[in-house]
Amino acid sequence: MNSTPLLASGPIGVFDSGLGGLSVLRALKARLPAENFLYFADSGHAPYGERADHFVLARAISVSEALVAQGCKALVVACNTATAAAIRALRQRWPMLPLVGVEPALKPAVGLSQTRHIAVLATRGTLQSEKFQTLVAQLPQDLTIKIQPCDGLADAIENFEATKIRELGAHYLSACGPLGHGPGEVDTVVLGCTHYPLILDVFEQQAPGIRFLDTGEAVARQTERLLNQQQLLWNGPPAQAPNGHTTWLSSGDPGQLSRAVAHWGL
Ligand code: DGL
Repeated sequence: MNSTPLLASGPIGVFDSGLGGLSVLRALKARLPAENFLYFADSGHAPYGERADHFVLARAISVSEALVAQGCKALVVACNTATAAAIRALRQRWPMLPLVGVEPALKPAVGLSQTRHIAVLATRGTLQSEKFQTLVAQLPQDLTIKIQPCDGLADAIENFEATKIRELGAHYLSACGPLGHGPGEVDTVVLGCTHYPLILDVFEQQAPGIRFLDTGEAVARQTERLLNQQQLLWNGPPAQAPNGHTTWLSSGDPGQLSRAVAHWGL
């Protein structure tokens, strides 16, 4: 379905239901500073996390079509919910396009937890997905995992509602059970929604000493690997380098996206 050839000079398309993908974009820009990016915030349809699968699938296809039509040489689905609902369909539709999705960092958490008690914060859509169930089924038996849906949290982050973010953050963290480094305590919390790393400072204040994991850097490494495999990394002379420019697109309020970009220093 790729009608135009993929070009090394093309941008990397990144999308999320809204602002959450900015946490992934930050890692991508750090790892691939010479690349151009096209970021699409589907804020007009956010949040995805409490919607039906078919809705998220249709949005993911429509947003991806828009990004591919703009000449993207790769696509990063910077949303756990959209990855769970749509990555398979996207791969079928664009078999030649380097495509990277995100999933909660459960495997790294298993390697890092000393207490063998971990928690996952994510949207209902992600946690109910077959993809997530498969991931959990592969975990070692000696591990205790607390799975915590965080209704309303991505929405509060989308709308910069500081008080609500703190209240919901504290509520969902305390629902994870005792946090700490003693026996039976949760020492590692997986941020399974790309919105949540944007409020890492809030979580760290509320649960000092606890390890919070996200997948931004792993996604950036995988994107680099796939581009390299297909010889699509920008490697032209510096004078023609794309220079790490980002184009911003939103299906919602463009002012909200620019505020977020400024707020999170992208
Ligand atoms: N940022 C998205 C994720 O990683 C979802 C947030 C939402 O739209 O509910 O799942």
